[in-house]
Amino acid sequence: MALDFKHASLVEGVRFTAQVGVPNIVQGLFRKREVVVSAVGRLPADHLAYRLVEGLEKKYGPDPFWVRVGSEEALLVTHPDDLRVVLGGSPSPFASDPDAKRKGMAAFQPTALTISRGDLWADRRAFAEAVLDTGAPTHRLAGGFAAHAVAAADGLMTLDRPITFDDVNTAFQRLTRIVVLGADAAEDTSLTDLLGDLMSAGNKMPGKPADGYEELHARLQEYVDDPDPGALTGLVAGAPQSAGTDVPGQLIHWLFAMGDTLPANLMRALAVLPTHSKVLGVARSEVAGKDLTDVETVAGSTYIAGCILEAMRLWPTTSLFGRVQVEDVRWANGQKTPAGTQVLIHNLFNHRNRARVPFADRFAPEEWVSGGAADDWRFNFFSHGPQGCPGAGLSIFLGQAFLGRLISRAEPRLAAGPRLRPERLPYALDIYGVEVRL
Ligand code: HEM
Repeated sequence: MALDFKHASLVEGVRFTAQVGVPNIVQGLFRKREVVVSAVGRLPADHLAYRLVEGLEKKYGPDPFWVRVGSEEALLVTHPDDLRVVLGGSPSPFASDPDAKRKGMAAFQPTALTISRGDLWADRRAFAEAVLDTGAPTHRLAGGFAAHAVAAADGLMTLDRPITFDDVNTAFQRLTRIVVLGADAAEDTSLTDLLGDLMSAGNKMPGKPADGYEELHARLQEYVDDPDPGALTGLVAGAPQSAGTDVPGQLIHWLFAMGDTLPANLMRALAVLPTHSKVLGVARSEVAGKDLTDVETVAGSTYIAGCILEAMRLWPTTSLFGRVQVEDVRWANGQKTPAGTQVLIHNLFNHRNRARVPFADRFAPEEWVSGGAADDWRFNFFSHGPQGCPGAGLSIFLGQAFLGRLISRAEPRLAAGPRLRPERLPYALDIYGVEVRL
């Protein structure tokens, strides 16, 4: 007989909305607001969110259960088998364009792959995978990319003071423009600024392109029309495309994911390494005296990759995934949920689940080298399944070259930031409050 999923109470729904739903919106869905992120980082907001979901899961799990978010009930999924069903079934029957995400992204990337469905999603996905070399051991242009990442690291090492997130971010925005658009875009900072403004507009969820979108699109089209053979634009002509692909529209996501998201994760890796002297020692010895512009060397620095992946697991940049069912779904217990059902995945809880992850609150890079972390669908900072991040391999490669170069040349020390206890790392690590001396 089909069983209904359990329902969290109304009061629990109010708390879930306040502690999980609202903080995600207050911080800015797309462009994190510095002041608010710092304030939220100081408050135990993520800790409260973790504890709340942990308590709910104990009471109503391990099957999916209903919890109220605002005025609607959503299905919260926590068990690895159910995560596999949802992420393995994205974008259909579980579309990744719930209302808030679609309305926000419409401001700066209305044709983005991540909010596409059906044939359009398949076309745009094929295009992205072809240019990004998704799933290949290394990207075709990896040699040049590594050299640019090393140059970005070297630039930071010339600063005669501790480095901040703004420094890392500025270096990465430049690197990103070179990698995605080509050498001619290196100093095109106004393009990055324009995208930043549009992303800020996205936080208000306007549901339509914000002022300036057409200009951004046109400027990107110019780079596409004059491709650089050493950049991703140089691979566009050889990639499958249809009338609906909208190449500039796809590049926008790549620019912000590489320019904003990746450096945020690298800053956290840089902040946590100095408090783990043994780990730092192993990572440094992996690249000591090595040439980080050599593709094999970069790709072979698996322990450094583990350090980056661990920073991403501990402090995922997307702490909550939303999905919406495009059709009825029958679950393993026989329960059927109708089209339109909202499904939520709380990454922070799954990544830190103390009942299921033995290294939940520790920094454990070795789990990605010789443990089972890489195949674990609970860890979704890059997501999993058909809609998993097609830029994951390229991101980690750039991160390896950048971080590898920094720690091969310098021993990072924390000049400002929270006191991190290695045996119990906090649920939030505010990148704006961290300074690292190289
Ligand atoms: C550390 C950096 C990055 C992180 C943490 C990250 C994370 C993610 C996550 C979690 C998703 C799935 C979102 C969802 O389903 O709700 C995703 C999708 C995506 N990512 Fe990344 N990403 C990163 C870098 C990149 C880069 C550098 C690129 C491109 C060059 C990229 C391109 C994409 C695209 C196109 C999608 C949509 C895939 C689809 O819907 O089929 N990402 N990424």
